[in-house]
Amino acid sequence: MKFFLDTADLDEIEEAASWGALAGVTTNPTLYARVGGKLADFESHIERICTIVGDECPVSAESVATDRAQIVEDGRRLASIAPNVVVKVPTMVEGLAATRTLADEGIRVNMTLCFTVPQAMLAARAGARYISPFIGRFDDISEDGIEQVANIVEAVSNYDFTADTVNGEQLEVIAASIRSANHVTQCALMGADIATVPFSVLKKMVKHPLTQAGIDSFMADWEKVK
Ligand code: E4P
Repeated sequence: MKFFLDTADLDEIEEAASWGALAGVTTNPTLYARVGGKLADFESHIERICTIVGDECPVSAESVATDRAQIVEDGRRLASIAPNVVVKVPTMVEGLAATRTLADEGIRVNMTLCFTVPQAMLAARAGARYISPFIGRFDDISEDGIEQVANIVEAVSNYDFTADTVNGEQLEVIAASIRSANHVTQCALMGADIATVPFSVLKKMVKHPLTQAGIDSFMADWEKVK
């Protein structure tokens, strides 16, 4: 499993990147608004994220357009910011059509707000490079977010989508809307390719009380041998 950071906060991205285990970043309009972002600065903000994480780490930047022509235009502009920009497009008819066009032009798309297996299958055939099923938001409406992501991971694994994706790259499922380290555990066990996690969850993933207790006791015993 790879880890993406789900944030637009540059300090969080710098800190997480320094840990050595970060493979990408996902942003969305809400996350950008949360850091006080302004529309005029959006592209330079995405460029700064790309510079922090480097060319090997995909950075998702979302189009909020609702018609295919505008999504395609947004996608071309966003993709021109840096080679690692992935255009995030909602799973809807106009999004599917735009994804097909963008994929045919060699632009990678992350189809987001995906909640069902049929949506995921359509996104895959439309040429999405990544599919992002949401866990937390599905749980919020009393559905089982983990089960739905597991179903999508299994359904995707049943087929070969390399003829549909940019450069025949492997389609990957990004487990999104993750709210806890336990969600990460469940996603890893089901074989989700990627988990995109908020920084608050990433910090919790590192910690265990027995790890800290062990560090404390080893340090105390080391004092005795000095
Ligand atoms: C990721 O791509 C999504 O934007 C994100 O995980 C949404 O998470 P939320 O449901 O906690 O807002």
